[in-house]
Amino acid sequence: MRILITAGPTREYIDDVRYLSNASSGQMGYALAAAAVSAGHQVVLVSGPTLLSPPIGCEFHGIETTAEMLAACQSAWPDCDGVIAAAAVCDYRPAQRIQGKIGKTGNGLTLDLIETPDILATLGATRGTRWNVGFALEAQDAHARAIKKLQRKQCDAIVLNSPSAIGAANNSVELLLPNGETAANWSGPKSEIAKALIAWIEANLKKG
Ligand code: C5P
Repeated sequence: MRILITAGPTREYIDDVRYLSNASSGQMGYALAAAAVSAGHQVVLVSGPTLLSPPIGCEFHGIETTAEMLAACQSAWPDCDGVIAAAAVCDYRPAQRIQGKIGKTGNGLTLDLIETPDILATLGATRGTRWNVGFALEAQDAHARAIKKLQRKQCDAIVLNSPSAIGAANNSVELLLPNGETAANWSGPKSEIAKALIAWIEANLKKG
């Protein structure tokens, strides 16, 4: 298969030197890319800034903003069989990026934020026969919120994890299906969870 994987955080610039982002390390997405390459798949890895090296053998597109991630994914999507969205995409961006650097005035500063596009939902809307797997990081009411996300983004499955996953080498996840059933529970190093998820996709979502 040819698999599109999103990873890492996105950045949304306030001015030319400051941005909004999050603490995603990119480890889960890079582990998935490595596991997919090892399993013999072609991988297109679209990633925000991380400290990690892209796994050898994957096609790598480094991006910063959500708009750039969306553009890279949309151009890769027609040639892919499916997508695993492991990126921690910024939900909001400043309504405008100020040129240069905002100076201090002695007063407070209010940022006007607008929603960013949902990459996974955008790909899901044009998925055709392709498969979509998302991630959901939830603190409260985790199951119900993850299933709602799965439905809204037209996913075949969603990997539910908790805020403790951010930046950690290990993870504990539940794989949820559209009917609300739990297909699998995996705990351990992100590299092992990645292998298990790629094997599950091969067994359950591979077409033809
Ligand atoms: O941020 P949220 O919990 O909605 O993320 C759920 C899934 O949707 C993840 O797989 C994430 O990569 C993806 N996502 C996306 N574009 C966004 C927000 C989330 O692809 N703007």
